[in-house]
Amino acid sequence: MGKEASKGVWKSGSGRGRVRPKGRQVEDLAWSQVQSLLGDQPRQRDLLIEFLHLIQDAYGHISAVHMRALAEEMRLSQAEIYEVATFYAHFDVVKEDETPPPALTVRVCDSLSCELAGAADLQKALETGLDPAQVRVVRAPCMGRCDTAPVLELGHFHIDHATPEKVLAAIGAGHTHADIPDYEGLAAYQNFGGYVRLLELRAEGDWEAVQAQIKASGLRGLGGAGFPSGTKWGFVRGNEGPRYLAVNGDEGEPGTFKDRYYLERTPHLFLEGMLIAAWAVEAETCFIYMRDEYPAVLQILEAEIEALEAAGLVAKGYIDLRRGAGAYICGEESAMIESIEGKRGLPRHRPPFVAAVGIHNRPTLVHNVETLLWVARIVREGPECLNAVEHNGRRGLRSYSVSGRVKNPGVFLLPSGSTITDIIAACGGMLEGHRFKAYQPGGPSSGLLPASIHDVPLDFDTLQPLGTFIGSAAVVVLSEQDSARGAALNMVRFFEDESCGQCTPCRVGCEKAVKLMGAKSWDQSLLNELTSAMTDTSICGLGQAAPNPIKSVIKHFPEEI
Ligand SMILES: Cc1cc2nc3c(=O)[nH]c(=O)nc-3n(C[C@H](O)[C@H](O)[C@H](O)COP(=O)(O)O)c2cc1C
Ligand code: SF4
Ligand code: FES
Repeated sequence: MGKEASKGVWKSGSGRGRVRPKGRQVEDLAWSQVQSLLGDQPRQRDLLIEFLHLIQDAYGHISAVHMRALAEEMRLSQAEIYEVATFYAHFDVVKEDETPPPALTVRVCDSLSCELAGAADLQKALETGLDPAQVRVVRAPCMGRCDTAPVLELGHFHIDHATPEKVLAAIGAGHTHADIPDYEGLAAYQNFGGYVRLLELRAEGDWEAVQAQIKASGLRGLGGAGFPSGTKWGFVRGNEGPRYLAVNGDEGEPGTFKDRYYLERTPHLFLEGMLIAAWAVEAETCFIYMRDEYPAVLQILEAEIEALEAAGLVAKGYIDLRRGAGAYICGEESAMIESIEGKRGLPRHRPPFVAAVGIHNRPTLVHNVETLLWVARIVREGPECLNAVEHNGRRGLRSYSVSGRVKNPGVFLLPSGSTITDIIAACGGMLEGHRFKAYQPGGPSSGLLPASIHDVPLDFDTLQPLGTFIGSAAVVVLSEQDSARGAALNMVRFFEDESCGQCTPCRVGCEKAVKLMGAKSWDQSLLNELTSAMTDTSICGLGQAAPNPIKSVIKHFPEEI
């Protein structure tokens, strides 16, 4: 609209009618800018977040006129565009009377491991040492590099063990783009037999035989919920097609960095596992939802998907890589599906489950990155690569992401029956001058355990009697120099920031809990009432688990509150 030919079309009923629609008008320049950014891509609603990224990347923000133009181009209401754009932390929506952010943004991670490593002081130093007209300093949640805390992101360049000096040097050198690590490319992967099993299965494979191997291995979902993977394939396959596969690469649970670790080293092991799972459930398309905090992984995947297409291993467009935009809740599988459909990441009510009603209402197999990597290994090496390992009465292996007060933090592939004592030993012991006090066994959703509980295997099902769970196996180790109460506050603040706001117990509960936790001594009866309401009535896992850090401090560290 906004053209001569459209004059008068807004007349409705009686009266003279309006020449133009109400509200913001389309500006021709902004419209042509948006058209040229979108190129010949189909104006599909599910690509909205991709298009918002194009505008944000090109202009450093999303202005009102560009939003209006995008609404016109996609034939969506401005309200729809606005609500999506403002949901995600990585989009800077700027109205007509507002000033756009400066060209450079520094995001300082303030989640637990980085806080322990001095993130607050780092942020202060940057705020005073940098010109706010040139560089914006903001706090941000875990960037999946907790083993090199404190961490920040300058543009798309991550600085590990960050200091103000390193930031100044990077700004001076114009180093604001992701460094791509050395990784195993397609040729190297194929040299060692990569994709041979996939091709054999596609030629004459029996999906139920593969499902039986997966079941025999004992593989369970490694995104946190631990659902048996073979059983899930059966549910998805049991629903009539077309079906989809969606990879959960959101890895937002603070302290977790195993998926990034593997993707930056052996992306094809994961890709082959994904294609085997897609073959097993006859998926029409594989969507990979990758968090925006992993720019190197995004580039690696883009390049390697192209290589797979060029090698004829997948049809063009069969793998659809989608970029998240800074929202932890999009790791919850139904919220991720909403985001893949180009909407806000609001978790859906269940049932129906995504195995039956997922992307575009079709049956969808959702898997975590690492789960799929194991699919490839099990199919190649046999179920024994997982189930032959036994420790403390538990079978299997687990990739623990370990950070905090240990000597050598990192990802450790250890038996699933490992205790915190085994894990600290794998890290070379505690950091010099630190005595073990407490640990987060599986992300902030799991709360804290005291050092006295040092002999329990950190596996699925073993922690439930203690009121916690292994989740994504994100272990953060605290020492006598740290406050359990302070760590819990950090965790609940994270949930407060990341609540999608859809349901009251979570939205209001997290905010209220943070306020109550700030008091000199905690009002335990009020906190107990609040945490029960949140656990019992929140729609999704975020609100249900958000009280766990509070409960664990009340139970294990009463002397601190
Ligand atoms: C709040 C919330 C956040 C989640 N974040 C992630 C995530 O970042 N990555 C992931 O793989 N799973 C995450 N999950 C679990 C997913 O909902 C889902 O169970 C998983 O992706 C299924 O794949 P799997 O069976 O291979 O584990 C999250 C769940 C909740 C409730
Ligand atoms: S529990 Fe929290 S994150 Fe989950 S749907 Fe409700 S408001 Fe959103
Ligand atoms: S990168 Fe900072 S806590 Fe994970």
